[in-house]
Amino acid sequence: MEDLIIREMTIEDYDQVFALWQITSKRALSDADKRENIERYLIHNRGMSLVGIVDGKIIATVLAGHDGRRGFIHHMAVSPDYRRQGIGRSLAREADSRIKAQGIAKTHIFCYRNNRLGQPFWKALGFTKRDDMDIFSYDL
Ligand SMILES: CC(C)(COP(=O)(O)OP(=O)(O)OC[C@H]1O[C@@H](n2cnc3c(N)ncnc32)[C@H](O)[C@@H]1OP(=O)(O)O)[C@@H](O)C(=O)NCCC(=O)NCCS
Repeated sequence: MEDLIIREMTIEDYDQVFALWQITSKRALSDADKRENIERYLIHNRGMSLVGIVDGKIIATVLAGHDGRRGFIHHMAVSPDYRRQGIGRSLAREADSRIKAQGIAKTHIFCYRNNRLGQPFWKALGFTKRDDMDIFSYDL
């Protein structure tokens, strides 16, 4: 999309980003997405999370980072009015390249099995679905 500006996400973007997630990603949100936790995430993974802006408004976002050995992408989201124009692909590719620039060779994403938007999107971007493992989580 011609008018799309992609830039680093800062904590000042939080309210707009959170409002977008309320529309796009409600099921995936948790306490981990409170302002103070997102602020910590952005500091921990400086320069890797992104927003997409059209006409001064945030219409897309992605959280990206790494743990020192593997990259992780979370909450990839494009506003419904702007989908299927390559915006998600552009943000994901930019996130990939920023993770790669840190010397990381592989990125993982979590996608609900019945996410009919996310599943074909990640496949189209060349991500391979793993059938050889499950996610185990533990509340600390
Ligand atoms: C998933 C999402 C980010 C895709 O954003 P987008 O900007 O529409 O994606 P793109 O236009 O860059 O699509 C890239 C490719 O992905 C595939 N794709 C994207 N959306 C698709 C859909 N609804 N059905 C089938 N394929 C799709 C296509 O191959 C597409 O290429 P094409 O348009 O040339 O055919 C967007 O639908 C979204 O925000 N969904 C809600 C949040 C979500 O589920 N995020 C993923 C969490 S795992």
